[in-house]
Amino acid sequence: MKIGLGADHGGFELKNTIKKYLENKGYEIIDFGTNSIDSVDYPNYAKLVGKAVVEKEVTYGILVCGTGVGISIAANKVKGIRCALCTNTTMARLTREHNDANVIALGGRIVGDILALDMVDVFLNTKFDGGRHSKRIGMLECAGVE
Ligand code: RB5
Repeated sequence: MKIGLGADHGGFELKNTIKKYLENKGYEIIDFGTNSIDSVDYPNYAKLVGKAVVEKEVTYGILVCGTGVGISIAANKVKGIRCALCTNTTMARLTREHNDANVIALGGRIVGDILALDMVDVFLNTKFDGGRHSKRIGMLECAGVE
């Protein structure tokens, strides 16, 4: 399975930890940056990873910024992206089962490495439940003000 990674400076270190972890497990990784702790703008990395997911260059995306908030907001602006900011493994499991999330966002300054890697494992290995959730996923694409 191919995974797209992206982070700003606040997520750079955790992104690298995740990258090494997944490569050791045999995942193919496309790293969209950033590649240093120099200050950068998280929307750029969210857009790169989101585009790669929508265009099926990768199966899932993993995004990391300081809190995970900004980069998840940015990713969800990409049409077809369902990005979930997760802080525990239950959220990581349920967002796959119920929301068919295709990107997980994590806060590099919020969660520790072990928890982050557990969330990544759960996210990548949980299937969408379908059924009643499918209709709701469809509704997300045309969510308006009605
Ligand atoms: C960068 O300092 C920080 O604002 C960013 O990583 C993120 O936490 C934004 O939501």
